[in-house]
Amino acid sequence: MSPLRNIGNTKIQITPIAMGCWPISGVTSVEVTEQASLATLKAAFDSGINFFDTAYCYGYEGESERLIARALGDKRDQLVIATKGGIHWADRKQVRDASPARIKQECDESLQRLNTDRVELYYLHGPDPEIPVSESAGAFKELLDAGKILSVGVSNFNLEQLQEFAAVCPISAYQPRYNMLQRDIEADRLPWCIENQVSVMVYWPLMKGLLAGKLPRDHQFAPEDGRQKYPMFHGEEWNKNQDFLDELRILAEEWNHTIAQVVIRWTIQQTGITCALCGAKRPEQIKENAEVINFELSPSQIESINRLIQQRGPICS
Ligand SMILES: NC(=O)c1ccc[n+]([C@@H]2O[C@H](COP(=O)([O-])OP(=O)(O)OC[C@H]3O[C@@H](n4cnc5c(N)ncnc54)[C@H](OP(=O)(O)O)[C@@H]3O)[C@@H](O)[C@H]2O)c1
Repeated sequence: MSPLRNIGNTKIQITPIAMGCWPISGVTSVEVTEQASLATLKAAFDSGINFFDTAYCYGYEGESERLIARALGDKRDQLVIATKGGIHWADRKQVRDASPARIKQECDESLQRLNTDRVELYYLHGPDPEIPVSESAGAFKELLDAGKILSVGVSNFNLEQLQEFAAVCPISAYQPRYNMLQRDIEADRLPWCIENQVSVMVYWPLMKGLLAGKLPRDHQFAPEDGRQKYPMFHGEEWNKNQDFLDELRILAEEWNHTIAQVVIRWTIQQTGITCALCGAKRPEQIKENAEVINFELSPSQIESINRLIQQRGPICS
């Protein structure tokens, strides 16, 4: 059976895991080099991944989009590229601007950086409190009609915003945060996406690396490591997460997979989840993660994992 899945009700086919291109931008991840980033992108493609997730604001100067063009420009026709507009940097601070003019400008600039004439999927990166959702949606509809983007997505939206946007422009993909321990979309947005044939492409499947199970209990974060600001990497939450990973490690070893593989595979087997966006900055990380395309967890394995998640209890994100 083909592992490929469609974006919404389009004919565009993607692997159920994508290379998440935030870490290679080097903004919050540490020890990122251009050489390793180019090698990671190539390793993703060579491992069978065809879907690359980036954004206008991944890198202060759009480095992530430029790296994709440099590493994989000669494979363009075999790639499905998703990028996002609506957030940019000014003086190294993120600025939200989802006005129609800005969205159209960012789309054109993204196409230039990616050295292409269209992207398969273009997202609104997040809501802009200053601009009505319907106005931003109008700009996306224009880009769709012009053929610059082949399908439309939104990210970090609540249910009401999804409905408002969809009333103006058809949505093919939704990009929220989701992983074994952070599952709030299941309450409302996931059922809405299933009902409306909207693909759900989830970010943080490994909870920024925590659920790969490779950070030791006594790990000291470098001062510039952006993960420090999240409660899940501290104190009681950190200890509970490490206890959970110790239990998961036993199952993963028994099944001859790594913890990261079990976590990602569990994610893409959840009803309504189309794709896990797996960030990586080293070739070996994406190679390990790409192996999940080639195996499935059985219902009893999923059940065993679900028991551990239940024991872990609700997380303070
Ligand atoms: N729409 C949005 O607002 C939004 C927000 C966030 C992310 N995203 C998208 O989602 C993607 C995923 O998010 P993310 O990159 O922040 O988080 P993630 O995929 O949960 O974690 C990525 C980090 O996990 C570690 N890692 C990955 N594979 C590993 C492996 N096999 N073994 C050990 N460590 C491994 C690496 O960290 P270290 O090597 O540093 O430990 C890597 O930088 C992003 O790249 C981006 O495309 C979108």
